[in-house]
Amino acid sequence: MFSLKDKVAAVTGAGSGIGEAIAHALSRRGAMVYLLERNEVEGARVASAIQTERGAAASIVTDVASTASCEAAAKQILDAHGRCDILVNNAGIGHVGTALTTTADDLDRMYAVNVKGVLNMSKPILASMVARRCGSIVNMASVGGVVAIKDRLAYCATKFAVVGLTKCMALDHADSTVRVNCICPGRVETPFVQQRISEYPDPKKAYEEMAASQALKRMGKPEEIAAAAVYLASDEAAFVTGSCLLIDGGLSVGK
Ligand SMILES: NC(=O)c1ccc[n+]([C@@H]2O[C@H](COP(=O)([O-])OP(=O)(O)OC[C@H]3O[C@@H](n4cnc5c(N)ncnc54)[C@H](O)[C@@H]3O)[C@@H](O)[C@H]2O)c1
Repeated sequence: MFSLKDKVAAVTGAGSGIGEAIAHALSRRGAMVYLLERNEVEGARVASAIQTERGAAASIVTDVASTASCEAAAKQILDAHGRCDILVNNAGIGHVGTALTTTADDLDRMYAVNVKGVLNMSKPILASMVARRCGSIVNMASVGGVVAIKDRLAYCATKFAVVGLTKCMALDHADSTVRVNCICPGRVETPFVQQRISEYPDPKKAYEEMAASQALKRMGKPEEIAAAAVYLASDEAAFVTGSCLLIDGGLSVGK
């Protein structure tokens, strides 16, 4: 089940948190993994950790906000293998604010990474998937792409856009048997969330409140999101496209 043997995979933002866990999980299922990461040191660290486990991995310094950088990364993969079977668009950034405190520049900065980044990286890889008539793209949205999160206007706007983009891509390329899905995590314990928590006056209380906001009363683990990425990337999900897989510990179920 869920074998990715001989598949070529690329994961953006693979130098930390959820992306790092996804890169490891894809490798453990047999994929050769490219880590497309803005942070050169962290990308190289994860590639080296995968190689230590006898997995095949390489890091390519990539800024998903730059079309040229994404095209160069895709070219490197396609030149080496002639294909990329799996693309996980995981890189994303956060922002705190309401409509009154979020500026147009804030929104531009968030869209550049969280929305345009998905399109920038997908385009060159998708073109080759369509030509080969197979492939799986997994986009990292958020529970904030399905329901509103207080004080996260720009973040939610970008993640709702990722859900929309996922559904449109799925519909447009279903005829080519290219599948496009997204994952909507709840609160997962990663450096992204730890950083946010550390900014609260009482970080311990903030952590406990965050965990308690999910029906299962705990934070998610990056590996729990990675398992969903493995499933969506695998042939076991051959009949799944355009879906949003909520993995949020019940955060969106209601109170
Ligand atoms: N952690 C959570 O609770 C949570 C919940 C819902 C959704 N998400 C989403 O999951 C994804 C990963 O989140 P995380 O918590 O692991 O974050 P993280 O900050 O721990 O890791 C994100 C990685 O992306 C990289 N990155 C950022 N901008 C980039 C760019 N322009 N180009 C290439 N790489 C870039 C960073 O260097 C970092 O290595 C994000 O899209 C985030 O919105 C996270």
